Amino acid sequence: MADNFYKHIVCIGAGYVGGPTMAMIAAKCPQYKVTVVDINAQRIKSWQGNELPIYEPGLLDIVKKTRGRNLFFSTAVEENIKAAEIIFVSINTPTKTYGSGAGKTADLQYWEKIAREISKVSESDKIIVEKSTLPVRTAEAMERILRVNNKKAHFEVLSNPEFLAEGTAISDLENPDRVLIGARDTQSGQKAMLEIVDIYKHWVSKDKIVTSDIWSSELSKLAANAFLAQRISSINSISALCEKTEADITKVARAIGMDRRIGSNFLNASIGFGGSCFKKDILNLVYICEYYSLYEVAQYWENVIKINEYQQTRFVKNMVNAMFNTLANKRITLFGFAFKANTSDTRESPAIYISHKLAEEHSRIIVSDPKALDNAQYDLKGIADCVEFELDPYKAARNAHAIAIITEWDIYKTLDYERIYQQMEKPAFIFDGRNILCHKKLYKIGFNVYPLGMPCMQHF
Ligand code: UDX
Ligand code: ADP
Repeated sequence: MADNFYKHIVCIGAGYVGGPTMAMIAAKCPQYKVTVVDINAQRIKSWQGNELPIYEPGLLDIVKKTRGRNLFFSTAVEENIKAAEIIFVSINTPTKTYGSGAGKTADLQYWEKIAREISKVSESDKIIVEKSTLPVRTAEAMERILRVNNKKAHFEVLSNPEFLAEGTAISDLENPDRVLIGARDTQSGQKAMLEIVDIYKHWVSKDKIVTSDIWSSELSKLAANAFLAQRISSINSISALCEKTEADITKVARAIGMDRRIGSNFLNASIGFGGSCFKKDILNLVYICEYYSLYEVAQYWENVIKINEYQQTRFVKNMVNAMFNTLANKRITLFGFAFKANTSDTRESPAIYISHKLAEEHSRIIVSDPKALDNAQYDLKGIADCVEFELDPYKAARNAHAIAIITEWDIYKTLDYERIYQQMEKPAFIFDGRNILCHKKLYKIGFNVYPLGMPCMQHF
């Protein structure tokens, strides 16, 4: 290599996973040259500037420290593939919308395209690392495409699933619970695995670096996300029961979470989980189970998604019931649109479904979010004529009939709700889809308050 770097890593896909992960590797391993490539020139341009294409706390600092030193962003996919010894593939894998497996399995056409491209341009051996969550056994398919089309170079495909959560990506990357690396049990597979272990060893302790075969690694990622999502659906199913029986879901969650076997994380009842992973990964799992005729297992996991959809439908139904059975021409302000706090990401956000349902009820929707308004505008293109977007939450709530808390952004906890109440239509309603507000205080101000999974407080 012409430069003085020990090795050249390239990451294909400059998204929510590729960008932060490579920034961390570049920061921790200065002797490696890390180049992130993407076919989206606009995205690459943003990565090169001060307005990064994604919002993630702490990301800009780390990018600023490494960019130009050993972290680079480029659209030159082919050239960088050629130069790299290690290729991380972190492209998006949307759910297939056509043909067999439509609505369930991942659309692998982008993966196949990348495999063909790597194989076409490579003149030297490469380690290919799957970062994106993929259906189990993708590595195998990828290896076949690579090997059949290129006899000059040796390709070793590894699985290294990403467990970072958006909004906490930087600390998750810096202090991971574990790093999982799956490789073939061959000499070249194990050698390649050690090369990837070497990278993580720069900052992750050895006991947290777990190695396995490729299939187990791929399946672990799907299973981990399915288990996490299942916890949310479980607590959300109990929230419905709490609302009927006047129990309080936060008290139930606290009590059950104190059992060490259950644990307290991921028991916050909500309007439902969103994000690019949970639904997609469970659907992949369901598809694999169906493929192997494990119908009962498939149904079990599919129900996790059904409860998630039920929770969102229930939220809107509760709004309709509370507001005298009609939302027509009423102004409903959504506080938050991102699928969770501290991210600009709106993929699979419950806000999208809720907005469409409100539009069906002929409501006027005002969307506010500190970081996700651009994405929200894109997501709601189809119902643009009944939606307004407003960054300032006070302005967004002016003349509204109701506020619905969709995302648990901290700023919504500390707003002056007295001031907001004065400027709203009466009776004023607040639906707390995240249970983040002080409900008693709101009720005292005059709001009719509808928390999730606990009794509502109404003035009539
Ligand atoms: C998830 C996994 O956590 C991560 O390990 C994997 O790599 C990618 O998928 P992410 O989708 O970024 O990460 O966010 P996560 O924090 O898991 O939240 C997912 C959804 O669940 C969000 O919509 C969140 O609001 C919701 N959630 C989470 C709840 O409704 N209640 C909870 O108690 C926790
Ligand atoms: P994730 O959350 O998995 O990171 P994103 O959608 O944020 O997903 O990022 C995936 C990125 O991969 C996108 O920026 C997209 O442009 C890029 N990408 C998809 N296909 C290719 C390809 N063939 N070559 C280069 N980049 C690609």
